[in-house]
This record gives sequence, structure tokens and C-alpha cells, in this order.
Amino acid sequence: MHLLLIGGGGREHALAWKLAQSPRVTHISVAPGNGGTATAEKTKNVAIGADDVPALLDFAQQQAVDLTVVGPEAPLAAGIADQFQAAGLPIFGPTQIAAQLETSKAFSKRFMEEHAIPTGRAIIVTDFDEAARYMRQLDDVPVIKASGLAGGKGVLLPETMGGAAVVVQQMLLEDRFGAAGKTVLIEERLTGPEVSVLAFADGERFALMPTAQDHKRLMKKDRGPNTGGMGAFAPSPRATPELLDQIARQVIGPTLAGMKAAGASFMGVLYAGMMLTPQGPKVLEFNCRFGDPEAQTILPLLESDLLEVLIACVEGRLNEVVPVWRNGAAATVVMAARGYPGEYEVGQTITGIDAAQAAGALVFQAGTKQVEDRLVSAGGRVLNITATGDAMEAALRTAYRGVRAIHFNGAHYRTDIGKK
Ligand code: AMP
Ligand code: GLY
Repeated sequence: MHLLLIGGGGREHALAWKLAQSPRVTHISVAPGNGGTATAEKTKNVAIGADDVPALLDFAQQQAVDLTVVGPEAPLAAGIADQFQAAGLPIFGPTQIAAQLETSKAFSKRFMEEHAIPTGRAIIVTDFDEAARYMRQLDDVPVIKASGLAGGKGVLLPETMGGAAVVVQQMLLEDRFGAAGKTVLIEERLTGPEVSVLAFADGERFALMPTAQDHKRLMKKDRGPNTGGMGAFAPSPRATPELLDQIARQVIGPTLAGMKAAGASFMGVLYAGMMLTPQGPKVLEFNCRFGDPEAQTILPLLESDLLEVLIACVEGRLNEVVPVWRNGAAATVVMAARGYPGEYEVGQTITGIDAAQAAGALVFQAGTKQVEDRLVSAGGRVLNITATGDAMEAALRTAYRGVRAIHFNGAHYRTDIGKK
């Protein structure tokens, strides 16, 4: 089979690595890919942007692609699944309407309220005066969320009521968050540890993956600015079988059933960002795809053929395929470029990947490119160093051994991944 894999981050390198292990896969075209997918087994890059749906459709038709797998949310938000389905091309990922679980926080909040799925109380506003009136009668400072896709920057946790009002004003009156901020959620602030619960979904049935926890802050002890994710580990020690069963029954099951009943069946990866509050697990957000770096952490734990799982989802027969996961743990450490998450340095030569692999680590590349026979940095998050082990300590030890084998100027990473 010829696969088309859309995206160019560490998540996509991990997907390509896992899909290439399937005996049925002959080649994988990655659009646009990165330095890792340029040289991976069975894999080549094609110079088409992940958001360029017409060009992706043309490519899939001309090359008779057998299955397309979508990594990031932007093409899903643009309706790539609808367009491929209309053209008779199999694609793994939700339709535009189903992807609203991620792309519209207003849609997703209303949906959860309608289906009694546990989540923070919120109002949805487009009018600044209404927002101001609502906030005047709140006792606690709320969380402010831009409803639309904002590249991970649309959720703000102000410290004071005045700060909350300023954020709402920036969104509704000052256009600081673009179209994404023209609808705002004012949500109660919840407390508790966070766990990500991901599931393969075939529109009706689902199969849970091992839970993951990510580290969003730049520096150790959760200091410094938010990032796209500096590392992750799986499974979360907090995710007891009882808790997972509760989340399956109260969140994942009702979400898929509710979407199906609304004529918007969800097929793809459903990712529930959960907060374990004193009142029980509550949904913070849904994503409609694998997380990055969660995918790099979770996929090495999958023993089954990923292709067979994805095809079962696309064909609506997930009941026939039971994904098998290895016991043990996995951890991913992100190596970032100098300056990240602000303006970052590029073009630094990367060495030591072979040595990291020899030490037992997996190296999933993100912001890299191959320039002749050199591998150079080309993004903020440059590499993901992942390892599995029988226990978390072993996975972490191997991952950090891999990290220490790799060099590029300005490289930095957190030294406390897995310590929460
Ligand atoms: P989201 O993109 O919705 O997951 O939000 C990003 C981060 O903001 C989450 O991972 C939480 O740490 C935090 N967050 C979101 N909603 C809330 C809430 N209602 N209460 C407290 N923290 C929240
Ligand atoms: N790591 C969080 C995300 O992919 O959205």
C-alpha cells in the first residue's frame, strides 16, 4: 500500500516509523515531512504544505494513494476528510463538522453540556458588555478561552479579575486573537492533575490508548513560558483502571454516541485533555488528532500493526481489531533550539543521532531538514528522544542517555520529564 501522511513534525515522524513496520506498507509519502522522514525506511517527502488541501487531493489521486493519514488539525479544520471522502479516497481523520470538537471550543462546550459530559462551567460570549456583566458577578477569576484554533495560545489563565477583563477585551474588541477570539469562553477555573486520554475511534466504537501526561512549560519544575510540549510520558501513574473506565463511560463513549446521533460521527483519534478535579475527572478540551509529543510517546508502546488499526477505523470495524499494547512505560524528551519558544535559531548541524539510537533510544525528528549530507535544525522543537522500558525509570534513563549523545549548538531540554 502507498500511504500519504500529512504533517511535518515529530508526531508525523513517529507515525511514519510505526506505519513503515507494517508488512502491507510499501511506501509512505509525507507532506511536507522533515529531515527525519526524508531518510526513514520506506518513506519520502513530497513538497506540499500540510494545509494545501487541493494539492494534497491532486497528489493522492494521481499517485493512487491507498490511505491518507492526517497528523495536524489544520487540514482537518479545512475539511480535508470531507474532500477526500467525496473523491472516494480513504482517509483517517474526522470530517470538518466532527473536528469541531477541537476547532470550536464553543461547539465542544455546548455539546458537552447537552450530553452531560463532565466539564467546567462556562458561558460563551461574543459581546463585550455581556462578558463584563457576567464577570462582575463571579467570585473566582475565570479561565478565558478563544473559541477557535489559536495554535495553543488561545487559553489564558489570568491571576486577577482585572487581568481577565483585559484578555476578554483583547479578544472581543481588539482583534488580538484574530477570528479565533471573536467568540470567547469564560470558564470556571478547575484544579487538579492533568491526564491525556486518547482513543482510536471508528465513528461508533473506540479503543483507548495508554494515557499520557505532557510537560508544557519550558523549564523544570514547570517554570517559564508555555510551549508546544517539552516532553511526555506514558502511562500516567494516576490512570488507574477504575479511572479509565469512568472516563470511557462518562466522556469517550457519550461523545462518540452524541456525535453519531447528531449525524457527525467521529472517526480518527479522539484526544480528551482531562483534569482530575476533587469533583471527578472533567474535560478541559478535546483534540481531533494525535498529540505532539504524545504520539511519539504512545506509538512505541503499540505492539499491533498501526495500519490495521487505522484501516479498521476508516472501515467502521474497530470491533474486529483489538490494539495490543506492551506493558511498561515510555518517555519523550524534546530537544529545542536556542530561543524557543520565542524567536529561535536555525541551521545548526545536528550530530549523534546514531549514538543515541545505539544507546537504545528512538529519535523522532521535528524541526530538522537534510541539507546535502548534513542534518540541520529548522524549527523550535528540533528532536524528540523517546525510550521505552519495563518501568518509567528505565525508559527515562535510556531517553536521557540518548539526549546526552546528541549535539547541536544551543540545544536545551528539560531534565525533569516524567517527574510529576
Ligand atoms: P486547553 O488548550 O483547553 O487544554 O488548555 C490549555 C491548558 O490550560 C490546560 O492544559 C490546562 O492546564 C489549562 N486549563 C484549561 N482550562 C482550564 C480550566 N477550566 N481550569 C484550569 N486550567 C485550565
Ligand atoms: N501536546 C498537546 C497537543 O498536541 O495538543
